[in-house]
Amino acid sequence: MTSRDDSDILLVRDLVTAFDTDEGQLRAVDGVSFRVKRGKTLGIVGESGCGKSVTALSIMGLLPYPMGKILNGEVLFEDRDLVAAPADALYRIRGAGISMIFQEPMTALNPVHRIGEQLSEVYQLHHKSISRKEAWDRSIDMLAKVGIPSPEIRVGEYPHQLSGGMRQRVVIAMALALKPKLVIADEPTTALDVTIQAQILELMQSLQREMRMSIIMITHNLGVIAETCDEVVVMYAGRIAEMGSVYQIFENPQHLYTCGLLNSIPRLENPRKSRLQTIEGFVPGLRELPFGARFAPRSPHPEARSYVESDRYRTVRPDLVEIEDGHWVEDESCVRVF
Ligand SMILES: Nc1ncnc2c1ncn2[C@@H]1O[C@H](COP(=O)(O)OP(=O)(O)O)[C@@H](O)[C@H]1O
Ligand SMILES: [Mg+2]
Repeated sequence: MTSRDDSDILLVRDLVTAFDTDEGQLRAVDGVSFRVKRGKTLGIVGESGCGKSVTALSIMGLLPYPMGKILNGEVLFEDRDLVAAPADALYRIRGAGISMIFQEPMTALNPVHRIGEQLSEVYQLHHKSISRKEAWDRSIDMLAKVGIPSPEIRVGEYPHQLSGGMRQRVVIAMALALKPKLVIADEPTTALDVTIQAQILELMQSLQREMRMSIIMITHNLGVIAETCDEVVVMYAGRIAEMGSVYQIFENPQHLYTCGLLNSIPRLENPRKSRLQTIEGFVPGLRELPFGARFAPRSPHPEARSYVESDRYRTVRPDLVEIEDGHWVEDESCVRVF
């Protein structure tokens, strides 16, 4: 997990991201490493507050300024370390190299500008020579590509004139307009109802095949991961609990947090069992994070309680161990399958 090989579009190495707060500097991401392969989809899954969005913002160089800071690590996009890159280089990479789709389309769209103006701006900011007319025409083509009916009419409308699903298609059109090599989608369908959600995920997959892009799919929903991803990173409290191929994670989960997430997916074969098993307890706040295995206080393992009371829990950071090819899990027995 140290060097980037040619099949990787992105390599994140030992990323540590913190926020300056009244209570001091708090680490939201604490030593995260993973790679994204060209043309493939990597999922990042975990409950709310686990550091998924902060990981995405760190990669994009979009952390809130000046509170958010990358304290350590590298984000290698192709051969370039984005952490060390100057602002103007990052600006160029955003859009044409890496782009991001946010959860809530209304925050990504400006309510007072027509759809076409917003899409045209993407083209015009990155291609200075393009004319207004040409940018407008390309916008119509892009709206057609993301499956918006009557794009030549929609292009002249305002965001509030579209349904939630259509707005998210516009956001996808904006993110893909410059044919980025990597798209980071942060809960892109969470705000949408289930049918629309499935349509949007399908759309992203067909555009991915056509444009041969890589995707980082961030979600709290393992169902979305199963549908869309090749590789999975399971994040818990700012760290990686487990990672591997989709097959490894679903067929041979080794971390009890992964098992907890899997148990809380609604099963088709048992729709009447309406109360899902949920993981007891909560994701810890950033003020109360130990060095040790962070899931331990919620772990059903019989040794978990004595571990949480030990010095080791407060002082020793577990590594990830590779238990089969490409399948890594936190090396602490009381959070592992027993
Ligand atoms: N601007 C901020 N200032 C302070 N803490 C933040 C800020 N943004 C996020 N955090 C904290 O960082 C942690 C990870 O948040 P986030 O990455 O948004 O989680 P997720 O996307 O997995 O739900 C949370 O504890 C959250 O409260
Ligand atoms: Mg988030």
